[in-house]
Amino acid sequence: MILFATQALGGNSDTLRSRAEKKGLFIGGAMRLYKETLDDPKYFETFKNEFNVIVPEHVMKFDATHSSEKTYDFSGGDLIVDFANHNSMKVRGHTLVWHEAVPPWVNQYKYSRRKLKAILHDHILSVVTHFKSKLLCWDVVNEAIGEDGKISREGIWPRIDKGKHLGDYIKNAYRWAHQADPDVLLFYNDYGTEEINKKSDGVYNFIKDLKKEGVPIHGVGFQVHISYNEPLNEESIRENFKRFSDLGLLLHITEMDVGIPKDVPLTPPVLEQQAEQYRKVFGACLATPLCQAFLTWGITDKYTWINQVTDMTAPLLLDEFYLPKPAYRVVKSLLD
Ligand code: GLA
Repeated sequence: MILFATQALGGNSDTLRSRAEKKGLFIGGAMRLYKETLDDPKYFETFKNEFNVIVPEHVMKFDATHSSEKTYDFSGGDLIVDFANHNSMKVRGHTLVWHEAVPPWVNQYKYSRRKLKAILHDHILSVVTHFKSKLLCWDVVNEAIGEDGKISREGIWPRIDKGKHLGDYIKNAYRWAHQADPDVLLFYNDYGTEEINKKSDGVYNFIKDLKKEGVPIHGVGFQVHISYNEPLNEESIRENFKRFSDLGLLLHITEMDVGIPKDVPLTPPVLEQQAEQYRKVFGACLATPLCQAFLTWGITDKYTWINQVTDMTAPLLLDEFYLPKPAYRVVKSLLD
């Protein structure tokens, strides 16, 4: 089976990774460290053959690294960094400030603004210092802007800021991360921002202001969690990517997956439609001067968050047997 799948992926010589490296690009996926994947050598073999950048699916988030006020645990992140170093790959750090993956000791206790700010400061300094010089970049802030383009009040962290100062916690997060590791690239990451719309306008204007104020921010991540049949306006994506690139920001596609409802049979036309979504987004990235990385949220349909959390399935480039899908071939042909 392993031999067959390796052949089906084209052996070691002609892979997504080999093609991306010829173009100076990063191609990768989110790595899951659960028993199911740890017991599956094919998973890690595929990562190192096909990809050159990894983002941890869970192990660098707040709840995984900082489960009580005085307890830090970097073991999962260290494993991923070791695996990456061993195989000449890079790691995207994900993520320092997000309204999800916040442990109960932070969420359930009513702290003062000052104390909450101190907790976030300590978290960012400790985590970024631990991984200093080991990462390509950090998603410092994840999903802080709402559909209306305004800074969201969702979750615990915006409580640090009073009324019209909403957003200061974000600026400080970038400053603190930069102090801890002045060489690591700092990103803002969000979903629903690939086209020009209210939300991407909000992200664009916010980052533009941060840059004007001298806040250290170097890149923007587009998650791109979408479905196989949602309309995607390719021209709007290209224009949108261009405006961010014109600000001098690096662009990463950080979490792309293209779900198919579980009740839709995975016929060739459906899989082609899925591949077409990948073509539009990856094509736009390749057409954008500062777009340097393309990552999917997982690498095989065998392990994907959407199976548990949504009514969709089969969102990735490789099927559950690690065999390439039409989407894989499209991404590969764009790297020709
Ligand atoms: C968001 C987060 C990711 C991951 C995905 C899917 O996009 O940024 O870390 O949790 O949702 O679960």
